[in-house]
Amino acid sequence: MTAAAATHIERRARLAARMQPGSVAVLATAPEVLRNGDSDYPYRHDSYFYYLTGFAEPEAVLVLLAATGGTPARAILFCREKNPEREIWDGYRYGPEAARIAFGFDEAFPIGELDAQMGKLLADVPALYYALGHSAALDAQVSGWLKAVRAQGRSGIAAPASTHHLLGILDEMRLLKDAGEQALMGRAAALAAGAHARAMRFTRPGVFEYEIEAELLHEFRRHGAQFPAYTPIVASGPNACVLHYNQNNRQCREGELVLVDAGCEFDGYASDITRTWPVSGRFSEAQRVLYALVLQAQQAACAEIVPGKPYSAMHEAAVGVLAAGMLDLGLLDKNKYGSPEDAIAAKAHLQFYMHGTGHWLGMDVHDVGPYRDLAQAERPSRPLLPGMALTVEPGLYVRPGEGVPEQYWNIGIRIEDDVVVTDDGCRVLSGDAPKAVADIENLMKERVHGG
Ligand code: GLY
Ligand code: MN
Ligand code: MN
Repeated sequence: MTAAAATHIERRARLAARMQPGSVAVLATAPEVLRNGDSDYPYRHDSYFYYLTGFAEPEAVLVLLAATGGTPARAILFCREKNPEREIWDGYRYGPEAARIAFGFDEAFPIGELDAQMGKLLADVPALYYALGHSAALDAQVSGWLKAVRAQGRSGIAAPASTHHLLGILDEMRLLKDAGEQALMGRAAALAAGAHARAMRFTRPGVFEYEIEAELLHEFRRHGAQFPAYTPIVASGPNACVLHYNQNNRQCREGELVLVDAGCEFDGYASDITRTWPVSGRFSEAQRVLYALVLQAQQAACAEIVPGKPYSAMHEAAVGVLAAGMLDLGLLDKNKYGSPEDAIAAKAHLQFYMHGTGHWLGMDVHDVGPYRDLAQAERPSRPLLPGMALTVEPGLYVRPGEGVPEQYWNIGIRIEDDVVVTDDGCRVLSGDAPKAVADIENLMKERVHGG
């Protein structure tokens, strides 16, 4: 067995314990996706499937049978068969028997036998759990299995009487990161923090955004991160005010800031870090003032990340600080809005801060799990618990506009860190990425290229 198999066996047992006795769950990994011609995108497993199996090959399905009466729970893997000819081209594949042993399954079959086996495995089973409405192909396949079982009705065999959404249960499990997951996330964040520091050291007037992107990707990969966790945003000057900018093809100029939002994926876990720094290595006065405000908002948000406080508290804290700053700096008209609360009630702050202050982070950058307690009628923001991982990412984006002080035009700033909720607060995973003005300026003085 692989070292990680015990973790996956335990997760499957926990899932099985939450299912109806004797019921069956089915979960497929992600398909391979064609990019163009006959070239695929780099393969990335499905996060739910990997969470329960640790098995990273495509064309694989997990079937989990919950315990009933005296029969214990069973986990079955369907995967690609060994194929010496294909393995010459594409590399090693486990095949069912080796995969069963390495990943701790009770049984394993070739993927080609899935439909035939499901007809048997769903016989006399009370309920089926799967990713409801996730893909039309899966819905059609499930429908085929159910029809096949119903066709045996005359022999006295009953088909599942109900279907349930499997992913809802898994979302709750994935929301709380165990020690192993936190260690991987710490590694992903540390690698990305190092990449940000490298990118700062590299930046100077005249570089193109894609050159900075290349530094980030180089640093991710040379430390073993398998992928960027998302397409990096390297947004210089006015591009920083385009939230999802990722063309990364503009030349950075003296006097501008560059906003870099980049994280990597390490062994299936993502980091997501944003830093904003001056192209020349020194913040201008206007940039310094806005940067200090965003940093203050982030500190206020982090102070709210404590077990028991609602998830929404950090956003409210950040918005409160930012709105007060917008009034003080004349971004918002003090004569129109008497207080930050007035400005927030009128949604005036959205002109300069239009996104949320964070999101769950884990195997997916925007990780799974509800943000509200859906069991309560008023759907309150859910309280934070130790083991939850999230980003804290306030920003300010000043597009030119009437009444907007000109010295702030085209300045876009975001500061984003990754944190895990602890027993009495939170632990910052991405703290190695320079953030204080003095730390950034000092680091940039060491640049090899000068500037
Ligand atoms: N990089 C995506 C985000 O910050 O949410
Ligand atoms: Mn983020
Ligand atoms: Mn980000």
